Amino acid sequence: MHVLFKSALGAGLAWALFSLPVQADGDIAAGQAISASCAACHGATGKATNALYPNIGGQNSAYLALALNAYKKGDRTGGQAGVMQAFTAGLSEQDINDLAAYYASQKP
Ligand code: HEC
Repeated sequence: MHVLFKSALGAGLAWALFSLPVQADGDIAAGQAISASCAACHGATGKATNALYPNIGGQNSAYLALALNAYKKGDRTGGQAGVMQAFTAGLSEQDINDLAAYYASQKP
């Protein structure tokens, strides 16, 4: 009984440690494929093509996912947010996690 408890605790601890760095279960390759529709403004690797657009390469993936969800839900408004509301409207939760993983993996 005691041994069982210890191994269960060990497995739980290992799970917690290994799952820490994983922020969103995004797939970098899938995100890169979707990012073609973002490249006109954010560049192929997240370096903006124009000073009016933000650089997003190397940004934290959890932050990117939060921002994309906020545009999609209409929580982010004002400024140029309308542009991003249009580009996030058709993205699924998985698309957003994949895009976040892709841009986060790029050099700032
Ligand atoms: C037509 C140009 C354009 C396209 C295409 C575009 N964006 Fe944007 N993006 C912008 C602009 C402009 C902003 C700033 C919006 C604001 O003022 O809130 C922005 C903001 C963002 C932000 C927030 C950055 C931050 O620092 O908070 C993210 C993340 C983002 N875009 C990702 C994407 C992704 C992913 C795609 C493709 C699905 C995409 N964008 C397509 C122009 C564009």
